[in-house]
Amino acid sequence: MSDSVELHLGSERFSYPILTGTENERAVDIAKLRDETGLITLDLAYKNTGATKSAITFIDGDLGILRYRGYPIEQLAEHSTFMEVSYLLLYGELPSAVQLEQFNQSIIRRTLVHENIKKFLDAYPGGTHPMGVLMSTIASLSSFYPNSLIPNRSVEDVDRTIHRLIAKMATIAAWTYKKAIGHPYMYPNNKYDYVSNFLMMMFGHRTEEYVPDPVVVDALNKLLILHADHEQNCSTSTVRIVGSSHANIYASVAAGIGALWGPLHGGANQAVIEMLEAIKEDGGDAQKYIAKAKDKNDPFRLMGFGHRVYKNFDPRAKIIKVACDQVLNRLGINDPILDIAKQLEETALSDEYFVERKLYPNVDFYSGIIYRAIGIPTDMFTVMFALGRLPGWISQWKEMRESNEPIGRPRQLYIGHPEREYIPVGKRKG
Ligand code: ACO
Repeated sequence: MSDSVELHLGSERFSYPILTGTENERAVDIAKLRDETGLITLDLAYKNTGATKSAITFIDGDLGILRYRGYPIEQLAEHSTFMEVSYLLLYGELPSAVQLEQFNQSIIRRTLVHENIKKFLDAYPGGTHPMGVLMSTIASLSSFYPNSLIPNRSVEDVDRTIHRLIAKMATIAAWTYKKAIGHPYMYPNNKYDYVSNFLMMMFGHRTEEYVPDPVVVDALNKLLILHADHEQNCSTSTVRIVGSSHANIYASVAAGIGALWGPLHGGANQAVIEMLEAIKEDGGDAQKYIAKAKDKNDPFRLMGFGHRVYKNFDPRAKIIKVACDQVLNRLGINDPILDIAKQLEETALSDEYFVERKLYPNVDFYSGIIYRAIGIPTDMFTVMFALGRLPGWISQWKEMRESNEPIGRPRQLYIGHPEREYIPVGKRKG
């Protein structure tokens, strides 16, 4: 097979090398294209553009494969914990027992946030969406740790910041919920592991000892693992591009939270539950909503369906569907929207429109039902996604900085006016 491609431009020929990844995926290296030919490539929404070389996550969208650092997602979701997976993503290898304990301790000791953070939270009006609060609070952490503004810091210093951010994200995420329901904030407690500590800060009360339910801890570990990284998606690309200007890590991650918020990305998990609720209220007719989703004059889309990369199935959705049944059974919950979800899935999977377009349930289709079962309110779902995605964002940020990637700066094809003369306001027509 040829290891270069040739471009014929008029009478001239240019050759561009083909690079091959670990799994034999192939890319044309066009780094010299513009210098040599004056051309740029145009690829709206980067559907065919590799923005970087990365050693963190591998996805094969056609085969439904997802691996973190080479380990299949199915094995990690079954046997690992969110903290272990975070270590794996950040440092490239599974930790020894000692390394994992040190990592856990380093994080758990940093979960407390500055008291002034409470003042910010208190100032938001009631009914504020927790993603906005999370985004701005994470950005504001840079004010408390001005060291993070120095672009070239020691490895130890950067590591401390990373552990601090993972630790404080759980506290801030839980406090956005406490703020929303008007309950007093629960301070972190070092005796709990990361996931139990988060649950305690969400659902604990000052007057009684919080005892985490192992079924809930297990389910949450699994959900966070499944969301932990997904290579160059919208929010991760945002984190990398913001970080490429050497903006600090808090600003970079806050930008990623903003990108995740949209309903076409992480916000889909909230949109799925709202859609399922609306279908239930409307009599539970799945068929009617399938027809709406297919109607090009109707803006309605089947939320939780379709994916830019997975065109066969989303491996995370498969794991979540099984976990969803297990969690509801073990907690003894009968949720009618689960039946609607299953009906929608069955109908869509045998419908020509969805089959032709390779639209399958994605990770968000069933995750909201588990979140609901464990007591997490709908508008906190995307916050949960952000909590899960954090180690992925940071690992990608770290990789980008360690490999000294230049500042991200796409080109464009200008389609506006050609040059024209400025006319002072009094002399303009109309
Ligand atoms: N319902 C109905 N039709 C759909 C859906 C859907 N959920 N998703 C895609 N389509 C149709 C489009 O209308 C289009 O049809 P056409 O070819 O006749 O015009 C075709 O399928 C291709 O869709 P695109 O939007 O071009 O696909 P793209 O890769 O750009 O978008 C996306 C992927 C954004 C995920 C899309 O499928 C979608 O909007 N899904 C619903 C939102 C959602 O669940 N997002 C979560 C994604 S997973 C995540 O971020 C964690």
